Amino acid sequence: MRWYVLHFEYETFFIPESITPFCLLRRAVQHERIAVRVVYPLSSGDIPLVSLNDNLVSLQSPMRILFYDHNTKLEPWLAGLRAALPGAEVLPWEPGMQAADYAVVWSPPQALVDEQPQLRALFNMGAGVDALLALRVPAQTLIVRLDDAGMGVQMAEYVTHAVLRHVREFAAYEAAQRKGHWAYRRPLRPADFPIGLMGLGVLGQRVARALVGFDWPLMGWSRSAHDVPGVRCFHGPEGLHEFLAATRILVCLLPLTPETRDILNRDTLGRLQPGAVLIHVARGGHLVEEDLLALLDEGHLAAATLDVFRTEPLPSDHPFWQHPKITVTPHMSARTLRDETIAQIAHKIGALQRGQAIAGVVQRARGY
Ligand code: NAP
Ligand code: GLV
Repeated sequence: MRWYVLHFEYETFFIPESITPFCLLRRAVQHERIAVRVVYPLSSGDIPLVSLNDNLVSLQSPMRILFYDHNTKLEPWLAGLRAALPGAEVLPWEPGMQAADYAVVWSPPQALVDEQPQLRALFNMGAGVDALLALRVPAQTLIVRLDDAGMGVQMAEYVTHAVLRHVREFAAYEAAQRKGHWAYRRPLRPADFPIGLMGLGVLGQRVARALVGFDWPLMGWSRSAHDVPGVRCFHGPEGLHEFLAATRILVCLLPLTPETRDILNRDTLGRLQPGAVLIHVARGGHLVEEDLLALLDEGHLAAATLDVFRTEPLPSDHPFWQHPKITVTPHMSARTLRDETIAQIAHKIGALQRGQAIAGVVQRARGY
């Protein structure tokens, strides 16, 4: 079967000849004044291409996209990707498949990458790419992270909730309710709860935008220098100690890299203001768990809200589950949303097909 490839403003359409005869297609283009633009080969491989006119190209095989996520229902993802990229062949990955152009993945096995060295891009179904960077991925295959895609607002909700819960002492009021006590607590001043955001990237800046509307002093720490409205910014190893010393509520939104692994430890957490609170929503590998337990038990830290863990699911006998100062959630602070994710990836595939640059390409040397 032959396919027509149409590039519109933002999307690529693949139309099988059997469904849309070329003459009808051309008439539709002329009458409806659809702006058919430049056409590029679907793959850098050796698909034979035949020019029909300046705008249209026919070719022998459609684009092939592999999908891998062993923790999700496949069908809705496959159907969504097929609808967003009509004409593309979208298949669940299994060993021994034909060469594909792109893969959409979450935590794939090394075998997928080894068998598909020609992939133009691996699209990660999340923001954090630590699992992909742990694999050997050929240098010519782009690794592309999810850019917000609906995660930013979820993260802002989660962190705002956690901050409010600690600062307004909701746990104490809930305990009082269980005892039937109508008991006031002393009002606390926002100025006494400076918040430090570790990581001022896509999610960190979205969280900052949510928090800036309250009166808590707001700080941020990143690798390179930033200027974020309402946030006192620090950067680099040289800015870390000053940032920590000015912080009482620490929110971790860093990527997990060789530089940031174990960064939440006795030394760094010990530098926070007394009565500090940790809100950890990045990766389990950032936190030295025994150090957190020790600092909570010694009273330097008042509480921790943890969404990510070194072992997930958190083992049933783990001390975090029952610790009175720890709130545990099951890695749900910002979930991957199917429709938003598919729309973003389809848009980026369209851009790559047109030879355009895309956002979210991982810089492997820096690890995120
Ligand atoms: P991002 O846009 O890549 O931002 C990362 C931020 O961390 C940047 O500000 C970066 O600094 C900073 N950073 C990186 N390495 C650093 C270092 N060595 N020292 C200081 N700062 C450093 O990532 P994102 O989209 O905001 O996501 C952040 C992380 O959240 C992800 O990697 C993932 O692990 C986690 N996450 C968790 C969930 C969940 O449900 N729990 C959901 C989504 C994501 P520069 O700005 O200077 O580059
Ligand atoms: C989730 O943890 C993500 O990295 O998107």
